[in-house]
Amino acid sequence: MTIHNVGLIVGSISSTSINRRLARALIALAPQTDLLLTEIPIRDLPIYSADHDAAIPEEAAEFKRAIVDYDAIIVVTPEYNRSVPGVLKNALDTASRPWGDNSFADKPSAVIGTSMGAIGTAVAQQQLRGILSFLASPVLPQPEAYVQSYDDLFTDDGQVTDSRTREFLISWLTAAHAHFDKTLRPVHGFTLTQS
Ligand code: FNR
Repeated sequence: MTIHNVGLIVGSISSTSINRRLARALIALAPQTDLLLTEIPIRDLPIYSADHDAAIPEEAAEFKRAIVDYDAIIVVTPEYNRSVPGVLKNALDTASRPWGDNSFADKPSAVIGTSMGAIGTAVAQQQLRGILSFLASPVLPQPEAYVQSYDDLFTDDGQVTDSRTREFLISWLTAAHAHFDKTLRPVHGFTLTQS
């Protein structure tokens, strides 16, 4: 099986983030599915302004390069007020510009997230799918991954304390791998290119 290097964007900068704990669990489980996950940090990105288009700030340029360089992107999102957190939207806007230099173009992606709420970030993820689709990123359609958290479901060092959740995450990563394979595979001798 092809090993894919995948960039991981975590949509929370909270020091106690449950989504960061989920991200650590995914990083720990991913090698079982031949994926290597590496975080692409968003904490230090400047707030996007169209003024940056003429002279892209170095942190933004580095972030855009990282997205292009990885085979695929996984986004782990919290849900803030039934949407994606502002820091994540800022990162997506930064990646999308300047016009004609959208770093997500043709880049396969998958979305996941966790909250204590019963619907486990479902609304935020639907909005995130809409944004990624608009950015021409083929998003893993199924399975959806709405993870309801509770205290100690994920430990700080990436352990998943519930075996059914651990098995689900492995099956989700396996589906993500298959989606990345399918999207990246050459079609009739051609590969998808960045536009
Ligand atoms: C929340 N939370 C929340 N949870 C949810 O399921 N749906 C929601 O719409 C919201 N809205 C919301 C807004 C704001 C401003 C905050 C700070 C929180 C609760 C949220 O799921 C919880 O704080 C998680 O811990 C956030 O994820 P991270 O940052 O810990 O990864």
